[in-house]
Amino acid sequence: MGKLRQLITQAICSSAGVENFTVERTQDSSKGDLATNVAMVGYKSAGFSSPREMAERVVESLRDNSELETVISKIEIAGPGFINFYLKQEYVKKVLSDESAGCELMKGKRVLVEYSSPNIAKRFSVGHLRSTIIGNSLERIFKATGARVTNDNHLGDWGTQFGMIIAVVEEKDLDVEKMSVADLENEYVEFNKRMTETPGLREKAKEAFWRLEKGDASARKIWEQSVAVSMSEFDKIYKRLGVEFEHSLGESAYETDMPAIIKEAKKNKVAVEGENGAWVVKFEKDGKEYMPPAMLVKSDGTTTYFTRDLATIRRRLDEDELRADLYIYEVGGEQRLHLRQVFETVEKLGWAKKERFVHVAHGLLTLPEGKMSTRKGNTIKLEDLLWKSKDEARRVAGVEIADEEIEKLSLASVKYNELKRSPGLDYVFVWDEALSMEGNSAPYINYAYVRAKKIVAEKNIDGKKLRDFEGEEIGLSKMLIEFVEGDVVERAAKTYAPQVICNYLFELSKKFNAFYDHNRVLGDDREKERLFLVAKLAEVIKQGALLLGIDLVEKM
Ligand code: ARG
Repeated sequence: MGKLRQLITQAICSSAGVENFTVERTQDSSKGDLATNVAMVGYKSAGFSSPREMAERVVESLRDNSELETVISKIEIAGPGFINFYLKQEYVKKVLSDESAGCELMKGKRVLVEYSSPNIAKRFSVGHLRSTIIGNSLERIFKATGARVTNDNHLGDWGTQFGMIIAVVEEKDLDVEKMSVADLENEYVEFNKRMTETPGLREKAKEAFWRLEKGDASARKIWEQSVAVSMSEFDKIYKRLGVEFEHSLGESAYETDMPAIIKEAKKNKVAVEGENGAWVVKFEKDGKEYMPPAMLVKSDGTTTYFTRDLATIRRRLDEDELRADLYIYEVGGEQRLHLRQVFETVEKLGWAKKERFVHVAHGLLTLPEGKMSTRKGNTIKLEDLLWKSKDEARRVAGVEIADEEIEKLSLASVKYNELKRSPGLDYVFVWDEALSMEGNSAPYINYAYVRAKKIVAEKNIDGKKLRDFEGEEIGLSKMLIEFVEGDVVERAAKTYAPQVICNYLFELSKKFNAFYDHNRVLGDDREKERLFLVAKLAEVIKQGALLLGIDLVEKM
């Protein structure tokens, strides 16, 4: 919580003895700068006959709080019993010049964000792109909460599908190293189709996977080459997006951990015997099944995606580098049930509370053209979204922009367009929207930044001995402290929503544009104060954009 809200909350807590109330920044500055509902929610339990009566008492006791006095200029009661607080200019100015201010929500805590997680020998899908962009932003936001954050790319590099790849590579004597990921995927898809028609192929694939598990040299080599080919393609995407992984522990990393986990689940009776010798985890309450069972061991004795996810968590709880207070999974919405099964099983096993695991799900992204590709689960080719964006950016934005900068701006537009909405929603990607110079977009925000930078360029910015802010300066200064004090970051982290950062940056940019339309900065009598605010604004936009993984351009 921002220092200010913390201070007010504590003051109220000690005077009112009520919990579960909020202290929020007000949208409308005629209602002060912060407001609390403490009397509305607490008057009954505190023994008052009306919220107003309680509000009066709270206000009275706050009047004697000397710490509050340095921060708040006025406290008033509004409506049926809300309490509004007005900030002192001195305080606003102090915070804006304080380099050490910021969010401390998760100070001392550890967070692991798992994201991207593409599958080896399959193309990097738009879903993986969404996961990468959102996951990376969450990683950055949580870093800004004071937490120690690490990330993990949970690659899909194991499973019976590799049996098919090995089988087809051996059958056709393919040179994996000369193939692209798309080639590999095509071979896999074709083999999969043939398998349903041709007897014996399924057994071949099974046998190949069995050999892989046993460490057979040929199988192993094909698998390793597939991983290498895929990773070199994926790494190019990560480089382009500016994403780096501290850990890339694929599913294969947990192969040897699984027997012990299966044993434990059986012993604890968390897993029960299912049909044909399979082992499953059931989810029942009062004798009723509230979720379908999850498969721990298949009837042929092989493990599953679910088993590997359990093993992953065991490792994440055991290994110091991976251990965290909070584990965030940025994974497509279609895996909601799967992850719920995993997290609940972890709790059943007594390893950890399920609340420590959060699934941030993303929906589907499509292009307005509709089905660009007929391939299942892959509605758009990634290249259409990222690789062609440079030309599109120039055309649609229609701004004069240097060659090196246009790529940055177009990438920023793709990221911003993704992050500005609630991740769970499906959406249609429209270039005109992503690159709009007028709307809630990266170019709009970047332009405000460039404008601000231009004003303060080579000027002497001095935060000392500022006069009190006046007129529209006041609104701008208060909006800035919302970020500087860490409230914006806190809200984004608490709701797992980079969208909060986007909305803030958009509103701030709008406010600045309006301010600049109405107020001269250079050469005005109030130049010193205004320069200070504009410089701060540029800094805040830059920092905010970085939380989205966006590196703003300096000229446009
Ligand atoms: N590789 C999976 C896929 O592409 C995503 C992995 C999600 N993470 C997990 N822990 N299961 O569908």
